[in-house]
Amino acid sequence: MNSQLQACIDQVEKDYAVDKKLLCDAFDAFIKLMDEGLTSKEQKRECMPMIPTFVSRIPTGKENGLYLAGDLGGTNFRVCSVRLNGDHTFSLTQSKSRIPSELMKGNQGLELFRYLAKKVGAFLKEHHADYSCATDGRLKLGFTFSFPVNQQALDKGTLIRWTKGFDLPNVVGKDIVELFQLQLDELDAPVDVVALANDTVGTLLLRAYSNDISKSNAHTVIGCIFGTGTNGAYFELADKIKKIDVPGNGMVINTEWGSFDNTLQVLPSNRFDTIVDSETANKGYHRFEKRISGMFLGELLRVTLKCLADDGQLFAKLKEKRGGSLPHRLEEPWQLDSQVLLYLEIDDSTELRMSGLILENELRLTTTFEERLAIRAITRAISKRAGLLSSIPIAAIVSRVKDRYKDDDRDFEVGCDGLVVEFYPGFQDRVYEGLGMIDALKGLNKKVYLRIAKDGSGVGAALCASTVDN
Ligand code: GLC
Repeated sequence: MNSQLQACIDQVEKDYAVDKKLLCDAFDAFIKLMDEGLTSKEQKRECMPMIPTFVSRIPTGKENGLYLAGDLGGTNFRVCSVRLNGDHTFSLTQSKSRIPSELMKGNQGLELFRYLAKKVGAFLKEHHADYSCATDGRLKLGFTFSFPVNQQALDKGTLIRWTKGFDLPNVVGKDIVELFQLQLDELDAPVDVVALANDTVGTLLLRAYSNDISKSNAHTVIGCIFGTGTNGAYFELADKIKKIDVPGNGMVINTEWGSFDNTLQVLPSNRFDTIVDSETANKGYHRFEKRISGMFLGELLRVTLKCLADDGQLFAKLKEKRGGSLPHRLEEPWQLDSQVLLYLEIDDSTELRMSGLILENELRLTTTFEERLAIRAITRAISKRAGLLSSIPIAAIVSRVKDRYKDDDRDFEVGCDGLVVEFYPGFQDRVYEGLGMIDALKGLNKKVYLRIAKDGSGVGAALCASTVDN
């Protein structure tokens, strides 16, 4: 790489750097913001939401029965029926559809719920036409709705704000279960929405259900997602949840950690982060998520490349040839899929030719070998930061629950789901590296393991529904 380009890349790596001090400061801040969120009744931008979920027990693996689940997490809606076998295992039937983009934005919020209800109806017709899973002719459905919701009961919660590209202002402040139930009733579907769950709650419940402690020797303490968005849930003791009266000894809390440090007191922030935030519908919110999750990694890379091109550091020849412009997928927001970063990172071909083809195909971007080296270095800087930052909430929650297990020599495990944690090369290693730097379990003979828990949002919602008595 020529020395000018090298200096520019060195600077970008510095812009995305995260060191031990930052992680430790952020770990302290996270614990403080958890307590503030558990105390404050008001939803302030500077607080983490820390939403009580009204799920008051963690599965043991002995749960039984057949339940429905609906899952709206991002661009897809899934309908599932889940048979819990009572021995840590389950079987699942499901169908998935892509939400039409015109239902994700605009003033027609109710249309979205009509669409979801229709999909449930179609699923029942196809897989349970005899309503074989019904008790009293009605079916129980757990609804995974992976957006920040102010939950007032297991089956009642109002939307705080949309994330992940949805923007339907009519729905904000409304009870999600009521909206969905109304549309199901209109269709005469014999279905009762009995539980509203966040995907992280489902992941926690599913992993706990699947975890046979006698074999794994580890307690499941967190359920989390590193996918399109990022978030986590854990069980909190009643006396710590000061903002509501908690019956029993505690409740699962949906932290909405995507909103950790919205006011950027400790999180790293560079000019590229500022641009990405300014392009989103939830500006100033979910700023932690905007540094970590799949929806934003591609956009961070696009913005970084575009800025360097505008500064004359990259693609100068290409721009000259094109009369001053760049390919439109580099110019326009949200055109670079995070999947591209994954391919760029695993490329071991001579002169990074595979990356060349991918950039050409995905972005219509012709590159030189030198430029590909630069793009790879930037990609690594972005994903390294994402992985290291992801260790902060895990370390904080583990340190918070550790005293509950002080007379127990088992390890801790974290149920994880999402494309980033499952498939992004090196992501899990970075999380472990960050956990090592923070060292939240110093002096204890315990380890923290990340365990992939797929389908938390389907099976987990069914587990939530299973907690409701007939
Ligand atoms: C976003 C949502 C949150 C969800 C997460 C993962 O952060 O606000 O509710 O759990 O994405 O899907």
